Amino acid sequence: MRVDPQNGGPGSAPRKEAARQNGEVLLAVDDVSLSFGGVKAISHVSFDIRKGEIRAIIGPNGAGKTSMLNVINGFYHPQEGTITFKGATRRKMRPHEAASQGIARTFQNVALFKGMSTLDNIMSGRSLKMHRNFFWQLLWVGPAQREEIAHRRRVEEIIDFLEIQHIRKTPVGKLPYGLQKRVELGRALAMEPELLLLDEPMAGMNLEEKEDMSRFILDVSDQFGTTIALIEHDMGVVMDLSDRVVVLDYGSKIADGTPEEVRGNQKVIDAYLGVAH
Ligand SMILES: Nc1ncnc2c1ncn2[C@@H]1O[C@H](COP(=O)(O)OP(=O)(O)O)[C@@H](O)[C@H]1O
Ligand SMILES: [Mg+2]
Repeated sequence: MRVDPQNGGPGSAPRKEAARQNGEVLLAVDDVSLSFGGVKAISHVSFDIRKGEIRAIIGPNGAGKTSMLNVINGFYHPQEGTITFKGATRRKMRPHEAASQGIARTFQNVALFKGMSTLDNIMSGRSLKMHRNFFWQLLWVGPAQREEIAHRRRVEEIIDFLEIQHIRKTPVGKLPYGLQKRVELGRALAMEPELLLLDEPMAGMNLEEKEDMSRFILDVSDQFGTTIALIEHDMGVVMDLSDRVVVLDYGSKIADGTPEEVRGNQKVIDAYLGVAH
């Protein structure tokens, strides 16, 4: 399917306008710096993500994009700066805290349980939402049983939404790459996140797979109201999907604005052309 925001596609929804104008800030990154030994992966970067928007993070390889997602979801702890999520400011948090507060992510390199089925991988995204302990689940009685059934129903809805019914029992290691990426999105959605972090969800995909993934990302935004941060290299995809774009280069922010503003920015053009600076 072609995604055409100019022509009544899902991207043209009023959601976009609302988010672009004066949406409430869901997450703010303030003056964050992160080093690994002598390598400065992120230098004094600030930007925000508004509720309901699709926020692209772009930049050449090694720019610090993945590191930024790792700071946001607590894998890395920045030496300087703060993250404010839903009004609470912190220097660092642990990944499970980020997850329980509503941040989910997918990875640049697919990170699924390869021997497990699509269904079980997506089900694993529910683990945070399962309150009954292991003992109850082992007994498979009363509350645990009811809870398991409710989780399965939600997982089946996600499987329908992503149109992967036909592979629900297939071990994910046997699936083509594009479908593995879709299953990984399903696992993140199973957490019912408020903020979804997608690290190159379309890397390595062919055109048709990219169009499918673009459509699912827009549908997640429109139908679930999920706020999305998206790292993506394909500028066409960025133009089609995102409300605003932040551009990183060598760990610093070099531009921030609408896709049109960023595309015409000389610093951005130079960074992509590899002009020395
Ligand atoms: N765990 C790590 N240890 C050491 N250096 C790292 C680590 N993660 C990232 N880096 C370095 O930080 C910089 C930014 O990397 P990364 O965030 O992966 O960039 P991008 O995702 O934009 O390609 C690179 O120089 C990379 O080598
Ligand atoms: Mg990366």
